[in-house]
Amino acid sequence: MTIDSRFLPRPDAGALLHMTLDGAPITARAGDTLAAAILAASGDASRHSTMGTPRTAYCMMGVCFDCLIEVDGQPNTQACMVAARDGMVLARQNGARGLRKLSSTPAQSNADG
Ligand code: FES
Repeated sequence: MTIDSRFLPRPDAGALLHMTLDGAPITARAGDTLAAAILAASGDASRHSTMGTPRTAYCMMGVCFDCLIEVDGQPNTQACMVAARDGMVLARQNGARGLRKLSSTPAQSNADG
């Protein structure tokens, strides 16, 4: 089921930006966060939890982590903390995402070997 958004762009909105969300075109205004753009585009969930529960942005200030999305291939990005840019490729997350393996630092390499 698709839900229409209940959010409207600000009347003083900035330049129009074009992005995709799961391959579908969406727009944002300069100065919008990705969470605001996604909420304005649709009332649907922006991700599903590991239990399959639909979630979407809630606090809009980086606290709840309910807005996690994939941005240009980078998972677990807080949509409320990232400004929209033209050409971004966004994807809803379904379930848990893996953690990115950090490369070892020279100090760690020496300790290992
Ligand atoms: S909406 Fe709460 S962390 Fe993004």
